[in-house]
Amino acid sequence: MDKPKVVLGVSGGIAAYKACELLRRLTESGHDVRVVPTASALHFVGAATWSALSGHPVSTEVWDDVDQVPHVRIGQHADLVVVAPATADMLAKAAHGLADDLLTNTLLTARCPVVFAPAMHTEMWEHPATQENVATLRRRGAVVIEPAVGRLTGVDTGKGRLPDPAEIFEVCRRVLARGAARPDLAGRHVVVSAGGTREPLDPVRFLGNRSSGKQGYALARTAAARGARVTLVAANTGLPDPAGVDVVQVGTAVQLREAVLKAAPDADAVVMAAAVADFRPAAYAAGKIKKKDGQEPEPIVLVRNPDILAEISADRARPGQVVVGFAAETDDVLANGRTKLRRKGCDLLVVNEVGERKTFGSEENEAVVLGADGTETAVPYGPKEALAETVWDLVAQRLG
Ligand code: CTP
Repeated sequence: MDKPKVVLGVSGGIAAYKACELLRRLTESGHDVRVVPTASALHFVGAATWSALSGHPVSTEVWDDVDQVPHVRIGQHADLVVVAPATADMLAKAAHGLADDLLTNTLLTARCPVVFAPAMHTEMWEHPATQENVATLRRRGAVVIEPAVGRLTGVDTGKGRLPDPAEIFEVCRRVLARGAARPDLAGRHVVVSAGGTREPLDPVRFLGNRSSGKQGYALARTAAARGARVTLVAANTGLPDPAGVDVVQVGTAVQLREAVLKAAPDADAVVMAAAVADFRPAAYAAGKIKKKDGQEPEPIVLVRNPDILAEISADRARPGQVVVGFAAETDDVLANGRTKLRRKGCDLLVVNEVGERKTFGSEENEAVVLGADGTETAVPYGPKEALAETVWDLVAQRLG
């Protein structure tokens, strides 16, 4: 079988050096990679490096090898184009269809999925011009992954770092695995909650649960690879931020509610994979609760937390918003799931059985996705990513 053909576009930012590692990962995993740098990119990493690492000649202009019509051929034959780093200038050119060098020509002739991994200073990323260009590219079906937050060139820190090459590689792998299909969540905004809330009793203790956050993170990663802009509200997971996703860290159910409600108004779908504590201690002790000799401990009085899933289902932030809940059950799994689906008022409920090796902390999961329209989709035991893909298939169908 022919190796999948990947075009690695490199535009002129300091993060160009990180694209060398992305290139290595792509070639070592069996991809035929053609590197198309811009002239500015060559100020950071020279043509010899790209050529040696890819095993192909490298050119920035449409005027080399004209007999082979490279400005058309390279894009036409690609299975994937990934631009990393994508500068503000490159995003602007791509959004407006400019074609003044080999990379911009390639972007216009490619009919395969296109991934942009932007990297720039925070001000440039946040500028309305860049944001509108990104929105245009996403609407047209490109996968634009969110930049990471951290150290930028010089002493600045903020949003704008190129995500880790290993993470960009994972996005490419997932996009390629979906084949030529247009990323079906492109232009959509999805909110995913993950992990388990912790309800503090005192400065050192909390009431918590065993959710690892892995299923929610799998949902966030797969949605990003399907083109969505993803807000991940993460409760106490300790997991590294997935590439291309906006992560909001929270601790308690009340904080999780606030973060979800803040992100929900322009969301096309909200997926509540987090295990939210139903109760929290009525009082928080500002100092550590101490044992008292000869005295029984004080009972802990609990109060109800808001039911976030029921609230967002009842009060949809926009028409057609798809709301998905999760339910981990130990007994009468499907019967309880159906009752819960009606009680919560969501469109889909992913029901799984809690048991040994299943659900909490594991890499695998098995579930039935119940639809408010009466549908039932069984997902066999397998990686949490496979369940995540099925959830997004069902969400995408409902988004139409
Ligand atoms: N959920 C929520 N807010 C809560 C509790 C749960 O949004 N206060 C969401 C979870 O994120 C999950 C779904 O509701 O998507 C189901 O959670 P679960 O704990 O199974 O539901 P409960 O209503 O708490 O039902 P049970 O009586 O079985 O605990």
